[in-house]
Amino acid sequence: MRTVYLVTAFVLVLGISVLGFRGKVFTHTPMDVFPDLLFPGMKVQPKFRAQGTSSFFADGRIDRMPPAGTVPASGPLKDDDALYLGKAADGSWIRVFPASVTVNRRLLERGRERYGIYCAPCHGGLGDGNGVTKRYGMGATPSYHDERLRQMSEGQIFDTITHGKAPAYNMNPYADKLTPEDRWAVVAYVRALQKTQTGTLDEVPAKNRPELGLK
Ligand code: HEC
Repeated sequence: MRTVYLVTAFVLVLGISVLGFRGKVFTHTPMDVFPDLLFPGMKVQPKFRAQGTSSFFADGRIDRMPPAGTVPASGPLKDDDALYLGKAADGSWIRVFPASVTVNRRLLERGRERYGIYCAPCHGGLGDGNGVTKRYGMGATPSYHDERLRQMSEGQIFDTITHGKAPAYNMNPYADKLTPEDRWAVVAYVRALQKTQTGTLDEVPAKNRPELGLK
């Protein structure tokens, strides 16, 4: 009888050590009781991996070239650093608007509308940081009319909208709400707001001068 106990215990320990507990996750390749070639199951699936080599095609590549005119599902390549990052080729912030953005009245109108929705609650209609959130205790919002923000490059303002302001993130990123084009429209409107506080009477065009009682 003792032998039976011993053998049972031995078989049990052996079984667990080879097969493991139920539900255990293994990282190594499963044990091969029958050689693959004898019983090829789902385990053996001859295939090529992307960007590998093969002697099947004359050019030695596994991948075929996509047909002419193919576009990626995620849209065209975003390689315009000025438009998408606000940066020049050398990595510095641009101090102009990207070549693909035309600053005109339409862009400014769009910027004003988006600014009113996404920025004015904190930065205020005048850009002086006196938005409605100030009344509820958010005092950290700067004025666009500070010398530092006047000197800030277009690229950096764009980047602030894209990524928010690190490290405290008192201002969140707006990349998910504003497309790159909309962000540039807002940058243009911020510049216009700044201009409202620095413009001089000399800059009034000749045809509008009478409206202001100027000669
Ligand atoms: C929730 C309130 C809030 C909203 C909404 C908001 N901002 Fe801000 N913004 C802030 C605060 C607070 C700071 C100062 C952050 C800091 O210095 O840490 C700031 C800073 C900035 C700065 C200066 C960044 C710097 O480097 O000093 C710019 C430019 C700016 N915001 C533009 C915008 C624009 C454009 C929008 C709209 C798309 C916007 N903000 C929306 C609160 C807000």
